Amino acid sequence: MRTQVGIIGGGPSGLLLSQLLHLRGIETVVLEKHSREYVLGRIRAGVLEHSFAALMREAQVGERMDREGQIHEGFFIAHDGIKERVDLRALTGGKTVLVYGQTELTRDLYDARDRFGGVVIHGAEDVRPHAIDTSRPYLTYRVGADVERIDCDYVVGCDGFHGVSRQSIPNDKIRLLERVYPFGWLGVLSRTKPVSPELIYAAHERGFALCSLRSPSLSRYYIQVPVTDSVDDWSDEQFFDELHRRLPDEVATAMITGTSIEKSIAPLRSLVVEPMRFGNLFLAGDAAHIVPPTGARGLNTAASDIYYLYHALVDHYSKRDDRGLESYSERALARVWKGQRFSWWMTMLLHQFPDNSPYENRLQKTELDYLFSSEKALASLAENYVGLPF
Ligand code: FAD
Ligand code: DHB
Repeated sequence: MRTQVGIIGGGPSGLLLSQLLHLRGIETVVLEKHSREYVLGRIRAGVLEHSFAALMREAQVGERMDREGQIHEGFFIAHDGIKERVDLRALTGGKTVLVYGQTELTRDLYDARDRFGGVVIHGAEDVRPHAIDTSRPYLTYRVGADVERIDCDYVVGCDGFHGVSRQSIPNDKIRLLERVYPFGWLGVLSRTKPVSPELIYAAHERGFALCSLRSPSLSRYYIQVPVTDSVDDWSDEQFFDELHRRLPDEVATAMITGTSIEKSIAPLRSLVVEPMRFGNLFLAGDAAHIVPPTGARGLNTAASDIYYLYHALVDHYSKRDDRGLESYSERALARVWKGQRFSWWMTMLLHQFPDNSPYENRLQKTELDYLFSSEKALASLAENYVGLPF
């Protein structure tokens, strides 16, 4: 088989790029290791910045998102028994975020690829990029005993943190800059009325907690847990007990608890791969960078990579102009690093670090004091949370 752009990974990055390129007459094939049901079973991001939403509309997949997504004009930070509001709209001159689950967004993208006749191959095993440092790269993959080959002009690695794309680049051609945190987030999805119509990020001496939601009847809650914990260590009752302890009384008493319909642990990590290109292989999304989820940047940063790469590929095919492809890594990384900085800062602000000295703990408290005593500091938080311009 031959295509113009071979995409590894059928998560949000790969599907969005495929859909955007299709609308500009550029052919793609998406190779996804797992089944569609598996990909749609993963509960992840919930907060979309407005530029991401605009890109979804440009890809003609924004209809359900606009109908069912909830516009959020602010969120709360809880600490020391109180909660204080960050008024995103007022602090950013009118900007807001959209609460719409990654699962729903991925489903919309799959539906669109089906509708437009896009090629997404599920269950593609042993996907491998070849000859990526030549002008004739190709991909191989296996379905059962059969090995298939796809020739292409470019390969885009959208295969997430554990994918094969990054690993196909020789070690001496890339640099990994990384920070691993000694805790994870235990997340629970429950079919209960959310405790608050706006998100609550809570800093507490027992650890961080987050009250989020997917719809007026679907809650998403998280608590910081040691990275060594497993899901089996936490019954639903234990989870909600611990969540209650970390929230101000007025929030804890208002919470409706229920049975979990999904429970998972995500380790926290910061990682950047530099550069985001090797020959004719381009990396995008979680394949190139990971953030701790605290600032809700992961999916949103993936979207900015896709924005730059989409325009670069359109310029290449429609105008033979390769400046966008040449500058892709540099442009994408400039924004990636701002997302890294913000996610790291939010994580440091709100989590308990087991090895922190009393001095560092006091600095953390002072950071919160400063935030809520300075309009300028709050405006900086808000500007980053709604998303810096692409
Ligand atoms: P992925 O979603 O990881 O998709 C990669 C795809 O590639 C997968 O489908 C995988 O099966 C496939 N694949 C892997 N290896 C191969 C291979 N060898 N061959 C073929 N296919 C392969 N981000 C936000 O912006 N806002 C949030 O509120 C937010 N909250 C989060 C909460 C949690 C608990 C977690 C864990 C993450 C959160 N994120 C958030 C981050 C966000 O989910 C990720 O950044 C996003 O999924 C990245 O999309 P992607 O398509 O680049 O990668
Ligand atoms: C959600 C996840 C986040 O990382 C975040 O910062 C906000 C919300 C969520 O899953 O709802």
